[in-house]
Amino acid sequence: MNIAVFGTGVVGQVIAQSLAEKKHAVVIGTRDPAASKQKKTKDGWGTPFGVWYESHGDIRVGTYEEAAAFGEVVINATNGGGSLGALSLAGEAALGDKILLDIANPLDFSKGAPPTLLVCNDDSLGEQIQRAYPRLKVVKTLNTMNCELMVNPGRLPGEHDVFVSGNDEAAKTRVKSFLAEWFGWRSRNIIDLGDITTARGTEQMLPLWVRLYGVLKTGEFNFHVVR
Ligand SMILES: NC(=O)c1ccc[n+]([C@@H]2O[C@H](COP(=O)([O-])OP(=O)(O)OC[C@H]3O[C@@H](n4cnc5c(N)ncnc54)[C@H](OP(=O)(O)O)[C@@H]3O)[C@@H](O)[C@H]2O)c1
Repeated sequence: MNIAVFGTGVVGQVIAQSLAEKKHAVVIGTRDPAASKQKKTKDGWGTPFGVWYESHGDIRVGTYEEAAAFGEVVINATNGGGSLGALSLAGEAALGDKILLDIANPLDFSKGAPPTLLVCNDDSLGEQIQRAYPRLKVVKTLNTMNCELMVNPGRLPGEHDVFVSGNDEAAKTRVKSFLAEWFGWRSRNIIDLGDITTARGTEQMLPLWVRLYGVLKTGEFNFHVVR
């Protein structure tokens, strides 16, 4: 499948590599492809993109618009504060009525750590994206765990869960099958919360996730609903 991955950070890198290993064709979207390919200094989590890119010759890099036009499915792994800007650069024409698998969290680190949420309570980033692009089929998922677990849930022993939120039932059904086929999620661990307003809940899990990370000193944990 042709897949667009928006984001050159650690999440974009991990997702793109995992998909490329399964022989999907991936184009990573970024604001300035030439500058991203040159980036050799660390400015976030993971490997500087330019260093990472040198060892991932099977993955192409383009503008957000080029990536969106290429992908049958678009995965949003941009900074939550920049997601709407990234989508605006991609443009409505290239995004069309595709599925947008939205992993971004609206975290605000401008006042340091722990971060606050840029949007919460009666709204969410997932809803903001859906409102801005009504034809897009926004499915919020995978945002409540570390990116290594997103693509390899077997890293943790035992049961743990991934949540799915979105308005379009057919799109959610496809995303659930992507989670299983691409990354190995078991259907009993995929919890469909309902429409895109339920993204409020999963985005608001992040303040807890961040505090758990601080206490546990590792991102190798996840949530599980016992029932
Ligand atoms: N780290 C994790 O394990 C994890 C887990 C769950 C969810 N998430 C979420 O996944 C997303 C990606 O996280 P990350 O740590 O990989 O990367 P990040 O540093 O949060 O985001 C990097 C990406 O955001 C883009 N970006 C930033 N500001 C932008 C703007 N104003 N306009 C357009 N694009 C902009 C950057 O574009 P350029 O390429 O052009 O610089 C880059 O591609 C975040 O929303 C994060 O909350 C992360």
